[in-house]
Amino acid sequence: MALALAETAAVDSIALDVEGVSHLYERDGGALQVLDNVSLTIAPGEFVALLGPSGCGKSTLLRLAAGLETAATGKVLEDGRPITAPNPDRILVFQDATLFPWRTVRDNIATGLEARGLLGTKGYRIDEVLKLVKLEGFADFYPHQLSGGMAQRAALARALVNDPKLLLLDEPFGKLDSLTRLRMQNELLDLWKSAGFTALLVTHDVEEALLLADRVIVLSDRPASIVAEIRVDQPHPRRRDDAGLVALRSQLLEKLGISHDV
Ligand SMILES: Nc1ncnc2c1ncn2[C@@H]1O[C@H](COP(=O)(O)OP(=O)(O)O)[C@@H](O)[C@H]1O
Ligand SMILES: [Mg+2]
Repeated sequence: MALALAETAAVDSIALDVEGVSHLYERDGGALQVLDNVSLTIAPGEFVALLGPSGCGKSTLLRLAAGLETAATGKVLEDGRPITAPNPDRILVFQDATLFPWRTVRDNIATGLEARGLLGTKGYRIDEVLKLVKLEGFADFYPHQLSGGMAQRAALARALVNDPKLLLLDEPFGKLDSLTRLRMQNELLDLWKSAGFTALLVTHDVEEALLLADRVIVLSDRPASIVAEIRVDQPHPRRRDDAGLVALRSQLLEKLGISHDV
């Protein structure tokens, strides 16, 4: 662990505060309200998972934290300061890897540094993150030559090369097969432990939330409000068949309105 920490550039994490946020989208037929008075505080370095029905506003909440949208009502703060624009300290990772097909893995990862004129000073980070996500042998591959899991690891590397202080993950493993998904969950956990960023993960997968997060937040149907918050006081690595986790799983399913016999 000491080695992993030494290999990774020191990353400060940030505190994220969402205070009384409501949000709506203007549509032809009027306004669509998607968030209803949501308040949550995420401590620096904490790993929080968000669960909620499809279309309730989870991605909207991540976009607000990324600075891609501005809340209609309420405040979204990083370390107490309003988030008003995107910033490489806060990076969003999507379900689709969204790599540039005409660029190699290395060049995809380099994109952000290149755009910010940092290739000269921070270019060495590319090889470090390639190693972190176990793609060092694939730097010169093009996206079409990668499996789904490898493409998603490249997308994670593209985020990590910026040393984000807040990583926003929008169902990042939703399209992967179940074995790859399990492997990626462990890898994400290792990255989080070694890099130290604050993590906010949207997932549909109750087990994924319980295996990874310090805290799981359940949102209601649209407009989303917080219906439950569950702390997962279990050390890593966690076992999905652990009695404590199984009990929490039933609680979460109930909060999501799903019978616990599922
Ligand atoms: N830019 C937008 N303009 C209009 N409606 C939107 C926009 N983005 C999302 N929506 C709508 O807002 C609702 C919540 O979307 P989203 O935050 O993506 O939900 P979730 O991620 O929980 O599935 C959905 O009904 C979606 O169609
Ligand atoms: Mg979404």
